[in-house]
Amino acid sequence: MAIRNIRVMGDPILNKTSKPITEMTDKIQTLIDDMLDTMYEAQGVGLAAPQVGILKRLVVIDCSMEGDDPIVLINPEIIEVSGEQCGDEGCLSVPGKAGQVTRPNKVKVRALDRHMKEFEMEGEGLLARAFCHEIDHLDGILYVEKVEGELHSSMAEEDEE
Ligand code: NI
Repeated sequence: MAIRNIRVMGDPILNKTSKPITEMTDKIQTLIDDMLDTMYEAQGVGLAAPQVGILKRLVVIDCSMEGDDPIVLINPEIIEVSGEQCGDEGCLSVPGKAGQVTRPNKVKVRALDRHMKEFEMEGEGLLARAFCHEIDHLDGILYVEKVEGELHSSMAEEDEE
């Protein structure tokens, strides 16, 4: 397990489309573990493989407060959305910034787990937002393209108090 270097906005790899994973290998298992380490170290709630320079359709997410197991999504697809939420979003590839993005409030995804077994999962609120944000990364899309209004410092609200 190791911490990988997180690519930041301006790196052209973040705008590329990632390729599906067709077979599980030791290398991909290591990548998954490294991505989890890297996400926790950076105190993020999600990380997509292109953010560590690997153009594969792989995402890790952990936005639970209860210490649930992290979510690993391979070749994820959004199969159902409903509702709407509007709130601030940030990204480890855009350090120190946040901006308002509208996303569906409920999102159902279909993906493979780290044993290449298909599963479906429904997320609401922050998890629904994370599904959308991370899957966008696999298509070379950063949330800054979807921001309504201006990007602002992610510390701004605390500074104002
Ligand atoms: Ni991101």
